[in-house]
Amino acid sequence: MVGTAANSATVPDIDPILDVSGVTLQYKTKEHLITATYRVDFKVFQSDRFVLLGPSGCGKSTLLKGVAGFMKPVEGTMKLKGNVISRPGPDRVMVFQEFDQLLPWKTVKQNITFALLNGGKCSSRGEADDIAMEYIRKVKLERFENTYPHMLSGGMKQRVAIARGMAMEPDILLMDEPFAALDALTRRQMQEELLQLWEDTKFTVLFVTHSIEEAVIIGSRILILSPHPGQVKAELNAHHLGHENVGETEFMALQERIHKMIFADRVLEDEA
Ligand SMILES: Nc1ncnc2c1ncn2[C@@H]1O[C@H](COP(=O)(O)OP(=O)(O)OP(=O)(O)O)[C@@H](O)[C@H]1O
Ligand SMILES: [Mg+2]
Repeated sequence: MVGTAANSATVPDIDPILDVSGVTLQYKTKEHLITATYRVDFKVFQSDRFVLLGPSGCGKSTLLKGVAGFMKPVEGTMKLKGNVISRPGPDRVMVFQEFDQLLPWKTVKQNITFALLNGGKCSSRGEADDIAMEYIRKVKLERFENTYPHMLSGGMKQRVAIARGMAMEPDILLMDEPFAALDALTRRQMQEELLQLWEDTKFTVLFVTHSIEEAVIIGSRILILSPHPGQVKAELNAHHLGHENVGETEFMALQERIHKMIFADRVLEDEA
């Protein structure tokens, strides 16, 4: 593992929420066996904002699919609170990049109450309504509770998806490039809002991006993956850096360091 004392992640001496150990994930098609990740190790602790960062195709989404329980490793284990992950469950909720992850025939509030009632989080509609409204307020959409998704902007739809995910109060929130399809201004606003929500509730999140800047802003810890098949290159600390540090020396130095790590592989790949 690469890293200098300044940024190398220090691992707390407590049990992790998520423990990924030696995980190789593969896709089998008729013609090919595709190894998406190779012997990946990382641990996510309570209230971590843990970022998976790496070039396109390095297996970030595949790792999230593994954690979500949609794929089983061919090698290694993934444990959630000490239990091997074998299937999807409401203790892990995924927020995707696509704007069409909401049910189009349900309103903002119904999208959230539906998840709460069907995911087994709530047994009564009244309780589901109360929790849904609490999270709708957190993402500042109270004026839109009865609106249908097609009448919302991309950023608003992502806020609903985040509110729905958080309302489920999962052990870990899985976010796969949730802001990648947004314009730069909205993306920045959403990053700020996510960090504000984190300040309020200190949820645990596993966040995928291929933007180095976003990784440093959002992440408390950043796992850098090599290109296909994804292997761990380094784990870095960025908990002290946020929007307010963009352009500052330390922020830029970390960005540059990460860039070099990712770029070094590209050069080797091109030569190969
Ligand atoms: N359903 C699938 N069937 C076969 N191969 C797949 C499938 N999904 C992904 N792969 C392959 O697995 C590898 C990792 O893909 P993955 O989607 O996890 O990458 P990623 O890091 O999320 O990339 P991106 O940043 O572009 O989203 C790639 O080589 C990809 O082609
Ligand atoms: Mg992906």
